[in-house]
Amino acid sequence: MKSEKILQGLNDRQKQAVTAPLGPVLVLAGAGSGKTKVLTHRIAYLISEGLFSAQNILALTFTNKAAKEMQNRVQSLFPNMGMPTMGTFHSVCARILRQEIQALGYTKGFVIIDDDDQGKILKEICIQRNLGAKFPPNLFKNYISMAKNALQTPDQMDLPIDKTVMNMVREVYAEYQNYLFKQNSLDFDDLLMLLVKIFQAFPDVLSKYQNIFKYILVDEYQDTNHAQYMLLFLLAIGSEENVGLRNLFVVGDDAQAIYGFRGSNLRNILNFEEHFSDALVIKLEQNYRSTKNILSVAQEVIQINKE
Ligand SMILES: Nc1ncnc2c1ncn2[C@@H]1O[C@H](COP(=O)(O)OP(=O)(O)OP(=O)(O)O)[C@@H](O)[C@H]1O
Ligand SMILES: [Mg+2]
Repeated sequence: MKSEKILQGLNDRQKQAVTAPLGPVLVLAGAGSGKTKVLTHRIAYLISEGLFSAQNILALTFTNKAAKEMQNRVQSLFPNMGMPTMGTFHSVCARILRQEIQALGYTKGFVIIDDDDQGKILKEICIQRNLGAKFPPNLFKNYISMAKNALQTPDQMDLPIDKTVMNMVREVYAEYQNYLFKQNSLDFDDLLMLLVKIFQAFPDVLSKYQNIFKYILVDEYQDTNHAQYMLLFLLAIGSEENVGLRNLFVVGDDAQAIYGFRGSNLRNILNFEEHFSDALVIKLEQNYRSTKNILSVAQEVIQINKE
């Protein structure tokens, strides 16, 4: 497909983002301004310009629905091409772990447990420890999840909570993690935490994936937690042994961060600008969704007038 076709109908800022030079790019905009459109057209542009082949592109998002939407949009731009790796952080991590997890002593056939299983295991641990009703298992589940998303092992755990409670959580977390390991099982948060661990501890594994994923894109970047940020950081910027290519293209809604709806997100966007001080920052300003809504309201008014 010709690149002109990929750029057709985009506004100037969108075109600037789609045709941006390599290196870090941060696209910031509000809802309905074409962020996902820019991201999918960027993928098409990179491939059609021959800058990267599809198998060297990784595009990440947060929900299965958003991942499907991204896949559909790229597919409709490129019906007959090999598809890049596109999916949620969790699904892509799970795929990589199926190849690499033995580095941590698990085996490749590991089981991914769901919320329910997690609740049952924690409840059992609480019963055995006589923690009873005073500490509902859900409380442990949430704190353990917070620790894992902050990449903290039981020993490193440091949450802004009461020290006595934290010590209790630490012990439950250690026992829970030990149990999962013995069962060759991972919870959702492990998918991210354990992959980061592997990338940090095994430079050859990191280097292998840096060579596969030479261009990384993230939609809804404002939603990244610390573990996800580290994963992107390691793949794109790298570590001392493994210098990355710095090809990271992220799009995010800064309004959500600025107004503090999600505390940690502003930090991620700032982190991005700090670690990628050479990042090209592009702001999309036109909101297409409200134009659409206004148009459809106008249409209805016209309809009513006709009647
Ligand atoms: N340049 C454009 N011309 C016409 N329509 C556009 C343009 N850019 C975006 N749109 C349309 O606006 C709508 C919103 O686009 P898109 O989903 O890419 O925005 P978004 O910023 O990702 O939204 P959200 O914040 O919900 O994730 C889509 O229907 C899209 O086709
Ligand atoms: Mg979007």
